[in-house]
Amino acid sequence: MDGTQMPAAAAALTARYGAGAEPKAGPWNDTIALLLSHRSVRGFKTDALPAGTLETLVAAAQSAATSSNLQTWSVVAVDDPAVRKELATIAGNQKHIEQCPIFLVFLADVSRNGRLAAEAGTELAGMPYLESFLVAAIDAALAAQNAVVAAESLGLANVYIGALRNDVQRVSALLGLPPGATPVFGLCVGHPLAGREGEVKPRLPQAAVLHRERYDADDTGHRAAYDPRMADFSARHEMGPTTWTQRVIARLGTMKALNGRDRLKDALVALGFPLR
Ligand SMILES: Cc1cc2nc3c(=O)[nH]c(=O)nc-3n(C[C@H](O)[C@H](O)[C@H](O)COP(=O)(O)O)c2cc1C
Repeated sequence: MDGTQMPAAAAALTARYGAGAEPKAGPWNDTIALLLSHRSVRGFKTDALPAGTLETLVAAAQSAATSSNLQTWSVVAVDDPAVRKELATIAGNQKHIEQCPIFLVFLADVSRNGRLAAEAGTELAGMPYLESFLVAAIDAALAAQNAVVAAESLGLANVYIGALRNDVQRVSALLGLPPGATPVFGLCVGHPLAGREGEVKPRLPQAAVLHRERYDADDTGHRAAYDPRMADFSARHEMGPTTWTQRVIARLGTMKALNGRDRLKDALVALGFPLR
């Protein structure tokens, strides 16, 4: 790192981890600065984006690594306001789905393999397993994250919409998905509304996720350090000063918070993923 980069790197690490919790600074460049500046945005200008933006994001997405080059993912760009409205309702009335100029639904998609095998007059004995779904969902996530980074490099903002999994069957019907394709999440892309640019959300101390040689399950101290930072962040942006511990318990502590996703396994089976 040269002398001019040091202040930028230090400021970015402080924003990500909080003052006093920064990991050791190391190599630095504009790409790393962009990654560390990520924040989700939930209010978008409706203005159209320059021609070719969608295609550029998808080219970035297709450039991600993909398991065995199987490319078991697809993406549906949804413009129809009526469909966007339905998707927003499924996702618990997330209005940004209707506002953003680009809304993408990323799919775990093994249906192409099925069509390829049918045309070749063969069967794919290795397909009906949980492994195929996992490979496809990982492929979709890696592709989407490349699109996210590409969008952010263009000054665009975004937010993932996992809440589409509240009802994958209804989403699949709306988008006309074939058997063997299922939504994994949506993605809103656009320019943030003024005042909705968001703020870098602090993460757990690095030692909570970075283990050296052997896993260290003693994370009470890491949580104790992180909880007040997240409470401050929440107080600035949301309802009240909720700690991270409280948030995890609220998110995972009741069936209600799953919003129907407790039925996901049956829904996936119905959509053509036997998950054996
Ligand atoms: C797969 C996935 C699904 C998500 N689903 C939603 C969602 O439905 N609605 C939403 O507002 N944010 C959603 N998010 C955004 C997360 O809440 C956000 O990334 C997290 O709170 C960290 O904040 P940051 O992205 O600003 O750093 C999702 C993120 C991921 C990775």
